[in-house]
This record gives sequence, structure tokens and C-alpha cells, in this order.
Amino acid sequence: QTVLILFGGVSNEYEVSLRSATSVIENLDRERFDPLLLGVTRDGRWLLCRGEDPAPVAADRWQEDAVPAILSPDRSAGGVLVPAEGRIIPVDVVFPVMHGQNCEDGAVQGLLELSNLPYVGCRVTSSALAFDKVYTHIVAERIGVPMARWELVCAEEDRRAACARVAASLGFPCFVKPVNSGSSVGCSRADDAHALGEALAVAFREDRRALVEELITAQEVECAVCGNLDPEAPTTGEIVTADGFYDYDTKYKTDTARLYIPAQIPRESAGRVRELAVRVFRALDCRGLSRVDFFVKQDGSVLFNEINTLPGFTSISMYPKMMIASGMTYSGLITRLIGLALE
Ligand code: DAL
Ligand code: MG
Repeated sequence: QTVLILFGGVSNEYEVSLRSATSVIENLDRERFDPLLLGVTRDGRWLLCRGEDPAPVAADRWQEDAVPAILSPDRSAGGVLVPAEGRIIPVDVVFPVMHGQNCEDGAVQGLLELSNLPYVGCRVTSSALAFDKVYTHIVAERIGVPMARWELVCAEEDRRAACARVAASLGFPCFVKPVNSGSSVGCSRADDAHALGEALAVAFREDRRALVEELITAQEVECAVCGNLDPEAPTTGEIVTADGFYDYDTKYKTDTARLYIPAQIPRESAGRVRELAVRVFRALDCRGLSRVDFFVKQDGSVLFNEINTLPGFTSISMYPKMMIASGMTYSGLITRLIGLALE
């Protein structure tokens, strides 16, 4: 079967996608699947790699031996269109190994729906809801999932009034995140009204809406969910950072975070994390996979943080590590996800 691996994207997580895609290409079971590598440059050009070597992807030199190619929304196309060669390369299934805006938020999923090609992961609405932290919070809150107290601030609001509103409602310290972003880009902590104004300005560089939450001092625990309508959440994982913030650099540039699988939390908390992860996954009508992130407080209580429908697949990423810890190989995981896409 031909697996189209889509990577890159017009997203602040372009580089993360290259790393994720490298790992997926390296671990794809070549006896079952033939990879086809279709990348999207940072500025949105779609190019098909001539080879299937992960090295140029890892080095961000994949564009050098690639030709313009597109996935057509025409349902009859059935594959990747290479205009210069006047041909269509048939595709059996698509694995979008991309993160962030335009990639994980339903945009690419919309194209894949139109193309009528089966694809790994969530459909349009769940991708869009899960990528938007405010809509996710509204859905999760509605089904009784506990979370930190939060406020929405929009860029058009009077900044001073917004800061006063947040200070009165949440107090300090608080944590500011762009509503639509990933890998902690644009997120920062604010300890007073002045810092809040600055944190909002940073968040508004990524999105015109910011989610402000009370700062939770807790263990950061993640949960891998895998499946379609009867999903499993086999284990938990925990991230321990030196300074308490699992930011972009800690995630991908330094090797300072320690990971524990399973998370070092009481058995009841782990059970609660796994149960809530599946509840959120189901409430958003997710498919295939998601990584659901939580805080576990000292008293063992569990608060929902966020859900990632296309979680990182880099060699150091939690999602594959959790699935491997629960008894799968990396290749077996990819085969399973492709199988779920074809169900
Ligand atoms: N947004 C990154 C890729 C993650 O959640 O792992
Ligand atoms: Mg995320």
C-alpha cells in the first residue's frame, strides 16, 4: 500500500513536523507500505520528494530534489497530482505528520475529506475544536471535566480593561496561551498586571485570542489515546522540567526534561487521567489518536490541560514512547494508526 506522508506546513511547528516525519519515515514497515513524501514549505508550496529517504527531511533539504505536486480536492483523482509530469500517483492512505495551524486545525483534514482519501487521525470538526483551546475547554467543561479557572482575552479588547478583568477573576500568577497554537509557542507566565500585558502581546503574535488560566502548580501528565470509536488509553507519562515550564526549547532544543512512563502519580490519579482522556477524546469525536495533557496536583486531583490530535512523533516525543511502553513497537504503532484510518 502507498502511504502518503504529508509533512511541513505553514505553521510555527514546521520544524517539529520535520522531526516527527523523519521518525515516521524511519519506522514505517517497508514490507507492508511504500512511502510517498509530500512536503509543504513554510511559505505554502507543495512539493513531492523524488525519493523516500528521511535524511533530507531531517536536514530540511527535502525541497532540493522535489517537484511541485498537489493533493486534488477532486474525488476522482485518487492520489497526488504532479502537473509537470502530467500524471497522478495513486495513494491508498495519507498520514498527515504535521502540527499546528493549517495542519492540525482541520484545514488539511478538509482537503483530505474532499479528496476522499483515507487519512490518519481526527476529522475536520474534531481537529478544529481540539486545536482551539477555548472551544476544547467549553466542550470539556460541559461534560464535567475539571480544569483550571480560565478567561478568554481578545486582541481587540482594551488591554488595560482586559488585564483588570483577568486580575479580578483569576489573580496572579496566571498563564497566557494563544488559543490556536502548539508546542508552547507564544505561551508565558505572568506574575502581575504589567507582565500580563506583555504576555498577552506575545500571545497575540500567534493568534488574536488568548486563553488565560490560573497558574497550576502540579505534575504535568500526558496520556496517549489510540483507537476509533472504542479508544484505549493504555498508560500515562510525566514530564519533569528543571524550571517547571515545558517550553519549546525544553521540548526540542535541549535535553533537559526527564520523562517517566508511567507517570509518578497515585494509582487512582492515573486511572482518572486515563478515564478523562478517553472522555475528552470521545466528546470531541476524535479518531485514531490524540495525546491528552493534564495536571495532577499534590492531593492527587486531576485537571485537564489540553488535547493534541496530531501529537509530536519525534524520537523524543511522549506519544510514541507511551504506546511503546504499553507493548507496541514504533513500526507496529504506525501500522495500527494506518489500520485505524482504513477502518
Ligand atoms: N504540538 C506538539 C507537536 C505536541 O503536542 O506534541
Ligand atoms: Mg498542543
